[in-house]
Amino acid sequence: MFQSFGSSSDIQYYEIVCKNHKREFLHKFAEFEESVVINMYYPEELIEEIRQKNDIVDVISGYVALQKKGSNYMCCCPFHGEKTPSFSVSRSRQIFKCFGCGEGGSVLTFVMKYENCTYIEAIKILAERAGVELPQAEYSEETKKRENRRKMLLEVNKEAAKFYYYQLRTPRGAKAKEYLDNRRLTDETLKNFGLGYAPVKGEELITYLKGKGFTDEIIRDSGLAKVSEKRGMVTQFWNRVMYPIQDINGRVIGFGGRIMGSDDGGPKYINSPETDIFDKSRNLYGMNYARKSRAGNIILCEGYMDVISMHQAGFTQAVASLGTAFTPGQANVIKKYTKDVLLAYDSDGAGIKAALKAIKILSAAGMSARIINMSPYKDPDEFMKNLGREAFQERIDNAENSFMFEIRMLEREYNLEDPEGKTNFHNQIARRLCDFTEDIERENYIEAVADKYNIGFDRLRKLVVNMAASTGGYGEVTLHQPEIKTGINSRNRSNPEENAKKAQRLLLTWLTDYPELYQKIKKYISPEDFVVELYSKVAKRMFEDIEKGQFNPAQIINTFEDGNDQREASLLFTTKLDDLESEQEKEKAFHDILVSVKRNSYEYYSARSGVDIMALNKMIEDKKALEELNRTHISLN
Ligand code: UTP
Ligand code: MN
Repeated sequence: MFQSFGSSSDIQYYEIVCKNHKREFLHKFAEFEESVVINMYYPEELIEEIRQKNDIVDVISGYVALQKKGSNYMCCCPFHGEKTPSFSVSRSRQIFKCFGCGEGGSVLTFVMKYENCTYIEAIKILAERAGVELPQAEYSEETKKRENRRKMLLEVNKEAAKFYYYQLRTPRGAKAKEYLDNRRLTDETLKNFGLGYAPVKGEELITYLKGKGFTDEIIRDSGLAKVSEKRGMVTQFWNRVMYPIQDINGRVIGFGGRIMGSDDGGPKYINSPETDIFDKSRNLYGMNYARKSRAGNIILCEGYMDVISMHQAGFTQAVASLGTAFTPGQANVIKKYTKDVLLAYDSDGAGIKAALKAIKILSAAGMSARIINMSPYKDPDEFMKNLGREAFQERIDNAENSFMFEIRMLEREYNLEDPEGKTNFHNQIARRLCDFTEDIERENYIEAVADKYNIGFDRLRKLVVNMAASTGGYGEVTLHQPEIKTGINSRNRSNPEENAKKAQRLLLTWLTDYPELYQKIKKYISPEDFVVELYSKVAKRMFEDIEKGQFNPAQIINTFEDGNDQREASLLFTTKLDDLESEQEKEKAFHDILVSVKRNSYEYYSARSGVDIMALNKMIEDKKALEELNRTHISLN
């Protein structure tokens, strides 16, 4: 009777099975409905009022220590690791900008980024801070549509999770159940994580979902199936043990599927592709439980199975990334709960490499990392099976400080029998020790390292001092200092598109600094000259605001809900202008930029003029403007 799924009696049977499991399992997913966050729409004037009542310097000062430098305020960027300040906040423009990592935007952008929250949440935080009462929100049409789609995607994933869950409990799922039993997962654990089984005939899932009223489009967009020309809809998973991946609120956003043997061929795990609800860089497996754990730390593992066996042993603070490397976005998620992260990565070469990378990411996010020694076992799963819970707790208590771990790993690269190898190793250590800017911290590490590697405190200390003297002091030596682009032609000479965008950004930055210039150039320039859609939107709004005498960059940035758009828009006001000395140089630079934008617009529209009458007109206009500009001197005063 299990050969085909989808007839009404099967579905009835299925409903009954699910109902019986409801108390044990489905309530795990039941949080979903309640926690669907609906984006709301607030009128722009209100957002502007909130912004005005939250001076960016005051707000950011509440998070980090700013220092006044000239007309701006500076500090070390909270969004990437650095030891010399390149994070700048402007009171007059009400925007911030990091010249190191490129992050930038308004006070709203800052809060979204720092608190790792949505646009609406940031508005709420700032409204509360300023004592502004928010009205019952209205929903914009677009928001409603988007939210509906998200809801459908969550629904379809949830149904699929239930389907797989049920399959594991049928005779067809026996092999999968046996596999999980062999891995010593208890029934309780299977329920807790909602583990399931994708049957050999994947299409049954599709039949089932369609029976539930889901459209082909939603099924496809959920990543559960792909469309193949030959075979129509094909499911992503078949004959695999299924791990539903839940977001922080317990909603199913994707799946991992594991083969049950090691000889079946194909990759060991297949994961859902990224979708509108499945962002692999901002979710962590197990985080829905870990956030409720009272351990006070988070244990970061490599695999789903590691997380599951850790939870089974009572370490409910264990999480893992989702088949991809650990990301800064995930670090930010964890940071909301704790700054104390323990790494329980595999003890093989790949695991060590991944751990070293994770350490960098965590420290850039201002968090500390300690490394759990798993030897002689490969991963937490194996460790737990063999030595159990108490032994693991001991390993947690004795976890190694990340710096000492890094040095220990470095040691493996050198032959310490050889005097030269040893010298190089010591120099490398000294170089690393220079990264500590705090004297006390550095001294403590010098002591610890000297002790451990028998170098002698004074000798190592001298090495460090000399190293600092020859490399420019203490603080991180950034090898790849991000280049600050200063002129149209200084970079990307070979990339005309990037050059064109650059010119458009520069022009808007110029107008931000000298809004009065707009009156002189408005006969030459229009929002349509900015051929990047977002730029054009910003330009349109900017020109209108300047005309009304109420131009404010931060206000424009706030009209974008998406953090990336905000960041992109903020670039338009903060692109670094060349440091030009004379008035003459400035005028020439400005003229060049204007001509460059215009020429690019001309080229853009002439390429389209064959098919589009509007483009043809625009091209003719541009040509005229260019000719006139060539004859015109625009003075800056
Ligand atoms: P592991 O191979 O360590 O997996 O890969 P694991 O979770 O410990 O699984 P078991 O114990 O072998 O069953 C770590 C993680 O890397 C991803 C998965 O997220 C996995 O949990 N991975 C691994 C893939 O996405 N695809 C693969 O083929 C292998
Ligand atoms: Mn494993």
